[in-house]
Amino acid sequence: MRDVIIACDFPSTEATLAFLDKFKDEKPFLKIGMELFYGAGPDIVKEIKRRGHKIFLDLKLHDIPNTVRKAMKVLSALDVDMVNVHAAGTIEMMRAAKEGLTREDGSRPLLIAVTQLTSTSEEAMRKQLLIDATIGDTIIQYAKNAAEAGLDGVVCSPLEAGIVKDACGKDFLTITPGIRFADSAADDQVRITTPARAREIGSDFIVVGRPITASEDPVAAYRRCVKDFCD
Ligand code: C5P
Repeated sequence: MRDVIIACDFPSTEATLAFLDKFKDEKPFLKIGMELFYGAGPDIVKEIKRRGHKIFLDLKLHDIPNTVRKAMKVLSALDVDMVNVHAAGTIEMMRAAKEGLTREDGSRPLLIAVTQLTSTSEEAMRKQLLIDATIGDTIIQYAKNAAEAGLDGVVCSPLEAGIVKDACGKDFLTITPGIRFADSAADDQVRITTPARAREIGSDFIVVGRPITASEDPVAAYRRCVKDFCD
């Protein structure tokens, strides 16, 4: 199951497809986010699927259960491979998301929860959201809620993958951004680790953006990630 997911943080269909054209021998698993999806629409998903890639559609749904259920049914019909919701939407919302995703034949994309965004500080959580707990405790509680709702895993820092597995079981998936080669720039990421270390800690999927997309040789950078993380 272990795989490298490339974060396709490009502004347009043209830029995305030009990037994918560089890959002649492999079909990387791709993450499509809000900017590209809202700009290019479902057609970009269909085109990338037609080219043979798996897609993590990173739209982080968070709404009332009924709305999320119906939205997930639409995303499931797009035949994406992984989608996500905010665990803050509650267990009931996550259950509704799973129902909406499940196709008539019982198949469905993987369903992943976002716990606390890495951009949310503990101070903001306590003062603005009135959540009287540590960030770590919130992440674990949200992960447990996701597991109880029957989700497949969470997005988390690679450094937290071990504690999430301890709390939710070894089969509960951890999808981890914040990956950098030892010799590459951290950019705006703070809590980072290498593909090899992420593997040791127990990540199932690493999400890698700029170390691949901004590299002079994206195919070589992707292969380096695969070698360090999967092989
Ligand atoms: O370029 P970089 O490797 O930092 O990209 C990481 C990707 O993972 C981006 O698409 C970013 O939005 C996403 N992400 C993240 N941290 C989170 C959740 C998502 O970096 N906590």
